[in-house]
Amino acid sequence: METLTTVAALRERVRAWQTEGLRVGFVPTMGFLHAGHGSLMALARPRCDRLVVSIFVNPLQFGPNEDLSRYPRDLAGDERLCAAEGVDVVFAPTDFYPPDRATTVAVAGLTEGLCGAARPGHFDGVTTVVARLFGVVQPQLAVFGEKDFQQLAVIRRMTTDLGLPVEIVGGPLIRDPDGLAMSSRNTYLSADERSRALSLSAALRAVVNAATAGERDVDTLRAAGRAALQVDRLDYFEIVDPGTLAPLATLDRPARVLVAGWIGRTRLIDNMAVPWI
Ligand code: PAF
Repeated sequence: METLTTVAALRERVRAWQTEGLRVGFVPTMGFLHAGHGSLMALARPRCDRLVVSIFVNPLQFGPNEDLSRYPRDLAGDERLCAAEGVDVVFAPTDFYPPDRATTVAVAGLTEGLCGAARPGHFDGVTTVVARLFGVVQPQLAVFGEKDFQQLAVIRRMTTDLGLPVEIVGGPLIRDPDGLAMSSRNTYLSADERSRALSLSAALRAVVNAATAGERDVDTLRAAGRAALQVDRLDYFEIVDPGTLAPLATLDRPARVLVAGWIGRTRLIDNMAVPWI
């Protein structure tokens, strides 16, 4: 495994692979990797000949009052995890955007609700970085986690709309044994905050259990979930169509329940599939 830190070096490596006809797989990340990221790499590895993982904390997707400056970083630990997952190249660029960058990639519709409403401009930052990463890495396959469920939907839409020759694969959300969805941001939580953070997955499970017991009214389902929440501030708790992300009034199809909330200074997200029986 090697770590490349410039766009030029990565392009050179990818060009050599292309002349050999090798299939390139890609897992984009912002680093501080955990087993959830490892599971995305494990999903990509058997589907490609060469696997690239990018580690880049993308300033464009952070709002002015968000945690860009304190976002956790640990390149040495990230390299160890990548090596253990059979990654060929870690791409940790120091020169990612052209200094005179003038292009923003924006997806309408899907980005307007949920995290898009709570974090204006966030998804423009995500699609702009992912489009450029696709241009530089030129993967045939890219894996994104279902933990960021809306992000995955937005990236699928962008890839289809721009006709990008990349297969997008979604990887299941991975939880710690106590139920907390794995996230690099969990490192911010104190012991008390972490125990309150468990209320996110408990609230989602309450919705799934009520739906499994036959409840169809979405207001009732949401109320069952919200009663379990112990967040300091709630950004949203919604039950949506998993394709369009439009809120549902009645559970008349398989759905997704999504939550975003603040525990102290830490914003956490989580989601679960809601069965329609
Ligand atoms: O999910 C993430 O870690 C980031 O949003 C991504 C896709 C790497 C873009 O910076």
